[in-house]
Amino acid sequence: MEPLLALQNVSKTFRRSGGSVVHAVRGVDLEVGYGETLALVGESGSGKSTLGRIALGLLKPDQGRVMLAGKCLNELPPDELRLARTAMQPIFQDATASLNPRRSARELMAQALRGRPQAIEQRAIALLDSVGLRPGAEYLPRYPHELSGGQRQRLAIARALAVEPKLVIADEPLSGADVSIRGQILNLLIGIKEERGVAYLMITHDISIARAFADRVAVMMQGEIVETGPAKEVLSAPRHSYTKQLVAAVPMLDAPVNAGALEAGD
Ligand SMILES: Nc1ncnc2c1ncn2[C@@H]1O[C@H](COP(=O)(O)OP(=O)(O)O)[C@@H](O)[C@H]1O
Ligand SMILES: [Mg+2]
Repeated sequence: MEPLLALQNVSKTFRRSGGSVVHAVRGVDLEVGYGETLALVGESGSGKSTLGRIALGLLKPDQGRVMLAGKCLNELPPDELRLARTAMQPIFQDATASLNPRRSARELMAQALRGRPQAIEQRAIALLDSVGLRPGAEYLPRYPHELSGGQRQRLAIARALAVEPKLVIADEPLSGADVSIRGQILNLLIGIKEERGVAYLMITHDISIARAFADRVAVMMQGEIVETGPAKEVLSAPRHSYTKQLVAAVPMLDAPVNAGALEAGD
């Protein structure tokens, strides 16, 4: 079966203001299967976010193709592209930046649920409940600034789920949250995968998140994928020296991380 997302020989170069050139992504091939969680790991600056933005269609690659469910996104006319892209939803580190501060949770959810036949208010409440904003009805009138950081990220997740994506592309989704609630958000994302069968491209510099979350891991270094394989194998017996360093830098992990153990009050 064809993969859900396939990046084929994707490259992206940036020119810095001084004139120097950064090869942020170099000839990357990467696939995410239906219902699969792939963690893209690597140090800061290795090109992970650039690759994620290319996958989402937010950034045009200099070279290469983005295939979604067998369709080449680079070749679709704009209206078809917009439709195809709803199958992918982003979650970013900073939910504040991705939620319009002038819109209440009700309006943000209604926007995402637009054009759906079901009663929008009921759907919105059910979605808010499902991401732990309970009771959902009480959150509908609230504005982003009236929520805690963790609650804002939950709202961003609810909105992403409203369009029933097949793939969530999450770029460091826990980094903006308080350490005390990261475990809860991680558990929420794991629950969404298990209950909804959503596939993830989980971009993270944090090996322990990859370990707790991913079926498969791809390791990125200086714009290239240097190692890929089942998460258990790559993270317990890395082959590439760079992966060995990344794994060795994570303290005290001989057992898989128990996301629940990280939990504390919201
Ligand atoms: N818009 C941009 N303009 C110039 N350089 C950029 C831009 N975006 C990213 N880069 C550079 O590309 C490289 C990869 O960045 P990024 O994809 O953000 O890495 P990561 O997400 O792994 O930290 C870095 O050297 C970064 O400075
Ligand atoms: Mg990044």
